[in-house]
Amino acid sequence: MVTVVARRNCHRGKLMDLAAVILPLLFGSLGVYSLFWLLQRMRARAYLKDVVVVITGATSGLGKECAKAFHAAGSKLVLCGRNGERLQDLLRELSATAGHSKNPHKHHTVTFDLSDTKAIVSAAQEILKHTGHVDILINNAGISYRGTIADTVVEVDRKVMETNYFGPVTLTKALLPSMIKRRQGHIVAISSVQGKIAIPFRSAYAASKHATQAFFDCLRAEVEQYGLDVTVVSPGYIQTNLSLNAITGDGSQYGMMDKTTSQGQGAAEVAQEVLSAVGKRKKEVLVAGLTPSLAVYLRTLFPKLFFTFMAARARKERKNKDL
Ligand SMILES: NC(=O)c1ccc[n+]([C@@H]2O[C@H](COP(=O)([O-])OP(=O)(O)OC[C@H]3O[C@@H](n4cnc5c(N)ncnc54)[C@H](OP(=O)(O)O)[C@@H]3O)[C@@H](O)[C@H]2O)c1
Repeated sequence: MVTVVARRNCHRGKLMDLAAVILPLLFGSLGVYSLFWLLQRMRARAYLKDVVVVITGATSGLGKECAKAFHAAGSKLVLCGRNGERLQDLLRELSATAGHSKNPHKHHTVTFDLSDTKAIVSAAQEILKHTGHVDILINNAGISYRGTIADTVVEVDRKVMETNYFGPVTLTKALLPSMIKRRQGHIVAISSVQGKIAIPFRSAYAASKHATQAFFDCLRAEVEQYGLDVTVVSPGYIQTNLSLNAITGDGSQYGMMDKTTSQGQGAAEVAQEVLSAVGKRKKEVLVAGLTPSLAVYLRTLFPKLFFTFMAARARKERKNKDL
């Protein structure tokens, strides 16, 4: 009986010794982590405050939510889109937000079409004339596409590439010299999971986003020596009007809200991810649920399996939508 009690006491003593070592270590690491997190947050806030942020596609969806997020972070905004009235509506909406008093800046709007090279170049000149410089450029605007490759006219492929690829490339090139001169600037590309994997009946869109990923990866490497940052954000499905505004194989509007889009992440939530990635000067970020993220890894690690899944998906969609 005595030995049992002595053994139990001995165990308890050992546990207490262990706790005396583990608990300070645990709380110490938690403290260091919290301090690190706080410092990172403070640095990100300081990075975004009072800087000039240009956002394309600010009239709708993710771009509009990015405008709200960067406004709340204290940035001076240049909001771009094709529809001047909707940009003015957004300005009014921003000035009516609760935290508006914390942002002293008078935001600016610029109206241009990203598929018009000349208009992009003069818009860039107007932006630089108005603000003097650009700290952060968010290439967000884009259109999507639905259709079979066999039935899609090549003008549609060109239109999607013009808006999603050549548009951001032209705007970036127009603003880059001033960033290089200042040895300061941050360029953001809103790509997509479809910039990493290609899914059937989205050929033009997936191709434009793959091209976007490649271009901005090259840019990141080339401008590092000037101290510039490049962030590529690859979201999965987001609840926006993207599928409604998508174009089909003959160039007409698709006009339907896809189930995947309507069940996607909220645009405000994704805008916070963009804000955080930019504030932390991340090189790239995948903002997607488990299935799209797994698909990206499957494409890299087991391509044959990925292609089998995509062929099955194409067969199923063809049957369901009579394509
Ligand atoms: N929604 C998703 O599931 C999803 C997923 C991954 C990535 N993304 C990407 O997120 C970005 C934003 O899209 P969204 O989902 O917010 O779609 P959205 O609600 O349709 O917004 C698209 C924005 O792009 C602008 N735009 C379209 N064509 C343009 C052009 N030729 N010139 C200038 N602006 C143009 C639109 O302006 P107008 O008002 O003038 O039409 C609108 O502001 C896109 O790059 C898209 O590829 C979206």
